[in-house]
Amino acid sequence: MCTNVKVGFVGLGKYLPENRLTNKDLEKIVDTSDEWIVARTGIKERRIAREGEATSDMAVNAARLALKSAKLSARDIELIIVATITPDMFFPSTACIVQEKLGAPKIPAFDISVACSGFMYGIAIANQFVKSGTYKHVLVIAAEKMSSVTDWKDRSTCVLMGDGAGAAVLGKVADGGILSVYLGADGTKGNLLKMPAGGSRMPASISTVEAGLHYLKMQGNELFRHAVKIMAEAALKATEPLGLKGEDIDLVIPHQANLRILHAVAKRMGIDPEKKLYLNINKYGNMSAASSAVALAEAVEEGRVKKGDTILLDAFGAGLTWGAIVVKW
Ligand code: ACO
Repeated sequence: MCTNVKVGFVGLGKYLPENRLTNKDLEKIVDTSDEWIVARTGIKERRIAREGEATSDMAVNAARLALKSAKLSARDIELIIVATITPDMFFPSTACIVQEKLGAPKIPAFDISVACSGFMYGIAIANQFVKSGTYKHVLVIAAEKMSSVTDWKDRSTCVLMGDGAGAAVLGKVADGGILSVYLGADGTKGNLLKMPAGGSRMPASISTVEAGLHYLKMQGNELFRHAVKIMAEAALKATEPLGLKGEDIDLVIPHQANLRILHAVAKRMGIDPEKKLYLNINKYGNMSAASSAVALAEAVEEGRVKKGDTILLDAFGAGLTWGAIVVKW
């Protein structure tokens, strides 16, 4: 392992479906209100993929932009990782479908199933492959069609989710790059957020469909508590070894599950949410793995991240899983 190799983001891209679903639209579908959704979550609208648009379609759109911004072509990529819990199908992997659509050579390609923390895990894997000198450029995509696993009759979950994709090309950089990575998981709390049927435990059948077991089921209240504690702890685990404190971080770019969670995490970290917390949950809702990937691409696009800045990516999700990454831009 060449530990002196600096690995960073050399290209970023994002894709959001055009179709906007507002809180007012949701008021017509379930017993909810714009006021409740905004006050409890911070979400005003979310994007919904059009009929027939699959996760790989969104992934490819984000990937093409990431490659363009890296000034690379699909032939320059040596590994494709797709983080998703809403793959096009169980197999082949969405990463293999993306490889074909991008026209990439016969490079390795695989999916990772880490829910909302998927982009963190994907970056962590890519970082290792580039650092070790195995690959020069790795494409990490986080793409989700959460609308495909959403129960549109369940007001406690359908107001939260959205569709989208973010992509990053990781490669060697001259300065800065990824400074630390912290990942974790706790399978004992897997029941708090899951899609019960469709796998080998409970294969798809007429009764599983009738019982609505192909939709995500969430114990929101309990997840909320874990999310605040774990995201704050993960931030500490990633920053402490570098001797960094909240005030040393220029921008926190978190997974966007709930505005109240993010404000509580910012408070625990001792950072001013107005200045140092990147938020786009109001526009997109929770896009699982895609949330932090889109947030990073958008923060850079908007000029919120400047050369030399120290940024913190921080995510938490089903599994439970979590990850925090410090990057010098
Ligand atoms: N509109 C109106 N009322 C609602 C709605 C709605 N859409 N949804 C729930 N309510 C009601 C409930 O029925 C309940 O009513 P009651 O008091 O009469 O029983 C009341 O509002 C309060 O419900 P809570 O569930 O306690 O509301 P809470 O403040 O906890 O907010 C939420 C719910 C938004 C889901 C929150 O708990 C949350 O964000 N949890 C964390 C989600 C998360 O982090 N997920 C992990 C990542 S996602 C991933 O990995 C894919």
